[in-house]
Formats: sequence, structure tokens, C-alpha cells
Amino acid sequence: MINIKNIIGKDYNQMFFNSGKTFSLELEKKGILVFKNFINDKGLDQIEQEAIKIKSKSFKSSSEYNVYILPYDSKFPKNSSRNRVMSTTKKCIPNDLISKNSNLNEIYNSTIIKKFFCDILNVNKLYPYNDSLSSININYYNQGDGLGWHFDNSDFTITLLIKNCLKGGDYEYFNKIRYKNGKEDYEIIEKILDEKIKGQKIQSTKGDLMIFKGKESLHRVTKVIKGERILITFNYNIRKGIPLSEESRKTFFGRIN
Ligand SMILES: [Fe+2]
Repeated sequence: MINIKNIIGKDYNQMFFNSGKTFSLELEKKGILVFKNFINDKGLDQIEQEAIKIKSKSFKSSSEYNVYILPYDSKFPKNSSRNRVMSTTKKCIPNDLISKNSNLNEIYNSTIIKKFFCDILNVNKLYPYNDSLSSININYYNQGDGLGWHFDNSDFTITLLIKNCLKGGDYEYFNKIRYKNGKEDYEIIEKILDEKIKGQKIQSTKGDLMIFKGKESLHRVTKVIKGERILITFNYNIRKGIPLSEESRKTFFGRIN
């Protein structure tokens, strides 16, 4: 059992005792929060070593979807923003291959950190996924890998960057761009897909924790040009007993249990 305070960046121990609620408004406004050096070097070292050690067991996935993660709609042209095909390639380690003694489990299960996340997200409780694969994932993006433009189905995403790539692999987003007068704004999305407008890029380095609301904010990770990017996703539910869909588990892990 690790004392969580030993692996958290020095600025944060005090912050946990103050209310994360101060960040809640900022998240609503900006759509994203970046906590620099959330994990200290010692804590990161263990995680990086573990990620490198088990990488050979990871599953390489390639998935294709549209920005809305919805089935093809024949009312729209094939190349419209509604139907245009985006793609993601990466490698992924599911939860059941991560050591029980890993710092990742300590962080994910920590009462004090979960309380901090709950305050920021304005929710009462956070629960793990009700399957053995989906709660904590290690994602590897090597040369040519990236995450195409999309809106999330989930209300929020929590990530921890543990290895920076050398070129590319930038997180880019448009905050709250999805709707116009309460309707899907397909026109603006088309402009983005045609590279006519550029989003905000987030400069993050290893050790940074990011909390992101992606349901209405279009986002992507540009292709890695050089080096390797390793990113942890801490996946929680606001309701108890929910598994990730079998289809998604098959896509990202190559198996369902
Ligand atoms: Fe996303």
C-alpha cells in the first residue's frame, strides 16, 4: 500500500483539502482543466516502467467512425460533416493487465483523489466500470497513430500523460462548438474538418492530469510524427454497475473479458 501523498505533485496535497469546487466553474467555462505535474517524478517513474514492461501485451486497434459516433445517415452526403469517416489507431492495455500494486490503482482508487474529482465534476460519487477491462487503460500512440475528430459519448474524460512524444501528438479542441440555436451546427464542423479553422492546442507534458468535457467540444489528437506518446485514461461512471459496451471492449481491447 503506497501513501498517495508520496506520488502526488507537491502543489496538490494541500489542494485536496481545499475544495475542488473552485475548479468546477472553470471546467464549465473552459471545457478543460490541466493540472501540471500532478504526479511527481518518483510516481511517474514507476508508471512509465510498468507501461513499457507490459506494452508487448497491448492490443492494436484501428477504428473508424464519424464525428458524432453515430451510424451513417443517408439523408446527408457521404463527405458531409455528419458522415465523414474519421479514424483512430493506437495500442491499449486494459485494466486486468495492470498490477494491483501499481501507482495507477492507488490513484484510481484513492478516496481523497476521487473526492477531488467529484468536486470538480460536480457529481456525488464516481464508480469503476463493471467489467475487468475498462476502468484504467494505458494508451500508446506511436508514429502515425492519432485520434480523429469526435465528440465524446461520456460526460467527462480524465487522463494522465506519462510520456511525451517528440513531434505531433497534440491535443486540439474547440470548446462548446456543437450546437447553434439548440441544433447541431454541421456547417462549422465541416469547416473544421476541411481545416479552414484551427482549434486550441493544449501544451501538456508528462505528469500532467487533464479533465475534459467532450460531449459538446470537438477534439482530436494529431498524429504522432516522432517518438511515442503514452497516456493513461482513468475511466469512471457516475452510476454503479455499468460496464463498457461489448462492442467497444472488442474494438479497443480485442476481447470482452
Ligand atoms: Fe474523446
